[in-house]
Amino acid sequence: MPAAVLVGAQWGDEGKGKATDLLGGDVDYVVRYQGGNNAGHTVVIGDQKYALHLLPTGILSPEVVPVIGNGVVIDPGVLLSEIDGLAARGISAERLLISSNAHLIMPHHKALDKVTERYLGKAKIGTTGRGIGPAYGDKIARMGVRVQDLLDPGILAKKIEVALTEKNQVLTKVYNRRGIDLEAVLEEYLAYAERLKPHIADTSLVLSKALDEGKFVLLEGGQGTLLDIDHGTYPFVTSSSPTSGGACAGAGIPPNRLTKIIGILKAYTTRVGSGPFPTELTDEMGDWLRQTGGEYGVTTGRNRRCGWFDAVIARYATRINGITDYFLTKLDVLSGLERIPVCVAYEVDGVRHDEIPMTQTDFHHATPIYEEFPGWQEDITSAKSFDDLPPNAQAYVRTLEEMSGAPISAIGVGPGRDQTVVVRSLV
Ligand code: IMP
Repeated sequence: MPAAVLVGAQWGDEGKGKATDLLGGDVDYVVRYQGGNNAGHTVVIGDQKYALHLLPTGILSPEVVPVIGNGVVIDPGVLLSEIDGLAARGISAERLLISSNAHLIMPHHKALDKVTERYLGKAKIGTTGRGIGPAYGDKIARMGVRVQDLLDPGILAKKIEVALTEKNQVLTKVYNRRGIDLEAVLEEYLAYAERLKPHIADTSLVLSKALDEGKFVLLEGGQGTLLDIDHGTYPFVTSSSPTSGGACAGAGIPPNRLTKIIGILKAYTTRVGSGPFPTELTDEMGDWLRQTGGEYGVTTGRNRRCGWFDAVIARYATRINGITDYFLTKLDVLSGLERIPVCVAYEVDGVRHDEIPMTQTDFHHATPIYEEFPGWQEDITSAKSFDDLPPNAQAYVRTLEEMSGAPISAIGVGPGRDQTVVVRSLV
């Protein structure tokens, strides 16, 4: 049976929660495969709004098993407060499984994330400050602390001690900060261990067995393609692989299990943090998109940078991820515009580029080449089928589909669970 991947096709915040939610009824397992509590998914159910950072969106459906895969970095304090927050609203996290191989975000990761950003000054990445980069750095450097270490207090103490021996030198001698107290961290993490123990599992094995039994596994990425450590706008990226290749590594599922790779694409573009963004609008049009689309970070509350749809980016996402279907979100936000510009290529020093320029320098200098399409004035928030959309909205969707190179199979026309036009089944 199939495993499907949901991947952001732009710079994150494309509205993945809504897509997961749409698939909810068909799905048995929802797996987060990378990132950490830098992500933010908003899911609206009835008059209730849920903002999730670390928990897979499947947590909201009682029949789904939510899984945090080995590719995720976990801040246990944040995870537990998210679990408690949901419990207070009557939602149980009892079914949650956490990979024993996932890495833990430690206090020194958070301290280093903040202090290194400060030292970068103008060149800062604009991270979420949640310790994501330093935690992945330690994972790659083979000095991370993993979820399974919580099961053995002796090992946990040893690993924290080794890490702090080095990190406290860096914090105190390089950055002139206070060192972190080993005993306090150990006590804090042993308390987390007590609560997290029942959830720790060999999730790769669980998922493999589930697939053998014919269950449907949905792999849910955080962030987006252009924030990928390898394929994004490096160094202005996150420290993991949100792209579909990363989904296999981060969930412990082999590539030949994947049957659908669903890209989430916003009808315009947003980005948080620093880095190139060719179609960014810094004028009142950008403010209008931000206000109309509610483009404020779920995690940090920061204003999102806003701009027109960029077909070069979408084509790139199709290629890098092998997108089989797109879920186009927030089409309703564009209602009321006379004309809608779409970036079809870039110009760099007088030369046209139909693909993302090879070098960072060229991408920083890319200016968009726009084509304009007629807008629509109608309210589309109650559209139920593609035919319910005004002709110009239909034409806009068809244009994006053609330029992106993959079929648009679902369209978001409002924030609610039922405000989705399904063109063809995503399963
Ligand atoms: P980090 O992931 O906190 O290290 O931040 C690195 C970059 O990724 C920054 O530009 C963040 O704004 C961006 N980023 C991280 N998570 C998200 C997300 O969920 N949505 C959008 N941008 C994100």
